[in-house]
Amino acid sequence: MDVRIRHMTESDIPVVSKLEAEAFPEDAPTPLQKELENRLASYLVACYVSPAGKGAEVITGYCGVWLVLDESHLLSIAVKAEYRGRSIGELLLLSALDDVISRGAESMFLEVRISNTTARSLYEKYGFTRLGVRRGYYADNNEDAVVMAASGINEPSYIEFLAARRMVAAGKLREY
Ligand SMILES: CC(C)(COP(=O)(O)OP(=O)(O)OC[C@H]1O[C@@H](n2cnc3c(N)ncnc32)[C@H](O)[C@@H]1OP(=O)(O)O)[C@@H](O)C(=O)NCCC(=O)NCCS
Repeated sequence: MDVRIRHMTESDIPVVSKLEAEAFPEDAPTPLQKELENRLASYLVACYVSPAGKGAEVITGYCGVWLVLDESHLLSIAVKAEYRGRSIGELLLLSALDDVISRGAESMFLEVRISNTTARSLYEKYGFTRLGVRRGYYADNNEDAVVMAASGINEPSYIEFLAARRMVAAGKLREY
């Protein structure tokens, strides 16, 4: 499977909004148009280029990050249900990390539902550790959020780790 990651553009907003609503039905929609105008924000999309589709792209996932000084924050990451488990989430996270590192980030923070073991496992794989818990953070069901962070993301050893992970993820995607 040929999947490319690129920055989200205005014309992607309807597809990304739909994907977001499917992945996070309980959450308020992100004002994506405003986010595109926000200089602190970066939104990426994962595009599947199908050989049968004559070069047409299918958006299979997206993620958003903010960067404030040297601290970045992963706002959202989701892969369309039928494309999960093929390393697209990893490629998005890798690209988000590359994006903020290139803009000066030293750390990345995020919140994740305590019950979301899939996402927590993805973050742990990338060196995120648990900083604490925000009790009742999610309004829909009063669920706790786990606050996680990865620090030293701009250090050579972490950048080497990302390059190695990218090779593995790209190899796995080629199998599909
Ligand atoms: C979280 C999400 C983005 C992962 O994307 P994905 O493309 O399916 O994940 P990948 O194939 O890249 O898997 C990467 C890692 O995630 C974890 N993971 C993925 N699927 C998993 C599963 N079913 N069970 C447990 N861990 C899983 C593993 O650590 C995996 O690494 P491994 O393959 O070495 O085990 C995707 O499941 C999703 O969109 N979920 C709904 C939205 C969401 O919860 N977003 C996170 C909000 S904080």
